[in-house]
Amino acid sequence: MKVVLEKLSKYFGKVVAVNDLDLGIESGGFVALLGPSGCGKTTTLLMIAGIYKPTAGYIRFSDRVVNDLLPKDRKIGMVFQSYALYPHMNIFDNIAFPLTLQKTAKGEIKRRVAQVASLMRIEELLERKPGQLSGGQQQRAALARALVKEPDLLLLDEPLSNLDAKLRMAMRAEIKRLQKELGITTIFVTHDQVEAMTMADRIAVLDAGHLQQFSPPSELYDHPRNLFVAGFIGTPPMNLLPVHLEESDGCLMVRSEDWQAKLPAETARRLTPVIKGREVLLGIRPEDVAVGAVEEGTLPAEVYVTEPLGREILVDLRRGKDPIRALVAPPFATPMGQAVGLRLDLSKAHLFDPQTEKSLLVS
Ligand SMILES: Nc1ncnc2c1ncn2[C@@H]1O[C@H](COP(=O)(O)OP(=O)(O)OP(=O)(O)O)[C@@H](O)[C@H]1O
Ligand SMILES: [Mg+2]
Repeated sequence: MKVVLEKLSKYFGKVVAVNDLDLGIESGGFVALLGPSGCGKTTTLLMIAGIYKPTAGYIRFSDRVVNDLLPKDRKIGMVFQSYALYPHMNIFDNIAFPLTLQKTAKGEIKRRVAQVASLMRIEELLERKPGQLSGGQQQRAALARALVKEPDLLLLDEPLSNLDAKLRMAMRAEIKRLQKELGITTIFVTHDQVEAMTMADRIAVLDAGHLQQFSPPSELYDHPRNLFVAGFIGTPPMNLLPVHLEESDGCLMVRSEDWQAKLPAETARRLTPVIKGREVLLGIRPEDVAVGAVEEGTLPAEVYVTEPLGREILVDLRRGKDPIRALVAPPFATPMGQAVGLRLDLSKAHLFDPQTEKSLLVS
């Protein structure tokens, strides 16, 4: 089922929780709503579910406005952060609950519970009470309960946040696989960028109720539209260096007091016009910074500390007081305090307007 949000807003008194949100989700799509705590993710989800009434704007399911449709008539399956399984009922009855409410025939209930239980691999647990299940098993039972109604739309609000790291990784894969197999349009709320990046087809990044960017994960990473997205996506975050942008011999140069470099022609071509001769912020991801000897053309810095991460080493450097980070392949034996020269892969550079905070590169 296709879902469209049109100029959707929700105010709680003076608090603007969601502001003028436009979002289109294709039938069978898997979209993540990603953003920091309080940015309006849950409020958006609850409006789609029909639990909150929008202050303004429209929600459409398959082109039909559903603003006034009751939650029970929206054909939605929902999993909240707390699994909210009924503790006194066994898992079978928990999963069967939505069907029991609908007064579905007993035989049909048995058949459908068996089907989703097998899908979630919890067939052996149906007689147990929720308290006798692990967190991951409860999680799967809650998903089974959401799926048993055969919903047109699945809404998940931080369903993995109570799980340990290993289980979370396993469930990430399970949910992604399941979503693709069933083809149910799914909206998934998280403040964890790794979860959003690994699972969703498209990610809507929200900040303070405003949509910042709505793109596939790779595009968010490679072409962030503004400083918020650039800083939010990617760990460690993108480095930002204040530089002066100028033209010299038909080439575009970035220059600071102790360093200058030529921007690749391809980058220069993508630059929005009217910005030469200005201060800009040069964004460069840590994996696009190489650390070497001080040589002509390198960016001077000093090793502050190194953090071995196993497969790679995070080199925390300083330029004066300003931090800059590089991710390098081991081994890296340069001692703390050593002066080094950095080479930036400027074909991967980002440029931002420090005033509007928007990217100056059009993709
Ligand atoms: N019932 C309510 N009454 C008043 N303000 C509310 C209510 N629900 C949410 N808010 C406010 O609306 C904003 C968005 O809240 P929301 O719960 O949607 O955030 P969120 O993105 O889900 O955050 P989190 O990641 O912490 O769950 C917050 O500023 C919050 O304080
Ligand atoms: Mg929330």
